[in-house]
Amino acid sequence: MKIGFIGTGTISEAVITGMMRAGLDIDEIIVSARSRKTSSDLAARYGCVSVCEDNQDIVNQSDLLFLAVLPQIAEEVTTPLSFRADQEVCSLIATIPVEKITAWGGEVARITRAVPLPPVVELNGITVLSGPSERVETIFNALGGAIVTKSLREFDAYTVPGSSMGLYFGIQELIAEWIKDQGGDRQEARRFIASLFAALSRTAEQSEDSFSVLRSEHSTPGGLNEQMFRVFCGSGGKDALNDAMNTVADRITKARS
Ligand SMILES: NC(=O)c1ccc[n+]([C@@H]2O[C@H](COP(=O)([O-])OP(=O)(O)OC[C@H]3O[C@@H](n4cnc5c(N)ncnc54)[C@H](OP(=O)(O)O)[C@@H]3O)[C@@H](O)[C@H]2O)c1
Repeated sequence: MKIGFIGTGTISEAVITGMMRAGLDIDEIIVSARSRKTSSDLAARYGCVSVCEDNQDIVNQSDLLFLAVLPQIAEEVTTPLSFRADQEVCSLIATIPVEKITAWGGEVARITRAVPLPPVVELNGITVLSGPSERVETIFNALGGAIVTKSLREFDAYTVPGSSMGLYFGIQELIAEWIKDQGGDRQEARRFIASLFAALSRTAEQSEDSFSVLRSEHSTPGGLNEQMFRVFCGSGGKDALNDAMNTVADRITKARS
């Protein structure tokens, strides 16, 4: 199978590195030249990766074509292209519906959307797909797992929390800053919080329990952990989180029109 990438930035590099680490059966990966350092590094690292200057050449050579440019230039990059009717496209471009992609580049045998996240590089990221595709599922299953959604509504519902990476680190940043303000050492605070959150994430990953059960198990009644969540919600924390998710969801819905 020949796989093409148009857009060789952060997420393409993570996906391609994951594919190579997973030892997937891929004949060739052709990447676009833009972000020259990333594309030439990938070609230097992996024998099956080559760099191509012309995006249409990448289309012409690919059985499966990944699109991974920023949403704001998606139309400009895709409109000059002519997809092949017998090929498959997987768009990683956030917010842009598949109907727009095929209106710009032409109809294809199959088109899906996927939201791979950076942990795919460690074969540890679950990727949400907009619909079934044997090829794409095989790839992302090898990179940590795939969730195939059955409707656009369900796909968008995962895209919203998939956008919580900044929030995740932002919360750790706020806690570490608080420790520092109490006289703690910045680096020690960072190490402490990163280690606590990582351990809790591992607990959640390895457990079948609901988050609600995990929260109870980690909150002695009347204790400090119970107080922390109660006061957080009571002081608007829950509303703030819902507001953030709803505004991101609105943005995704508006981008569709
Ligand atoms: N980063 C994530 O965690 C993540 C996760 C899921 C989905 N996504 C989506 O994936 C897409 C890419 O995100 P990213 O974070 O990888 O962005 P990025 O690092 O900025 O990569 C975008 C790439 O597109 C290239 N590009 C620009 N114009 C091009 C053209 N005409 N032809 C070919 N390549 C061109 C850029 O090259 P230059 O640097 O030379 O401009 C850059 O390599 C976005 O739509 C984003 O929403 C990202």
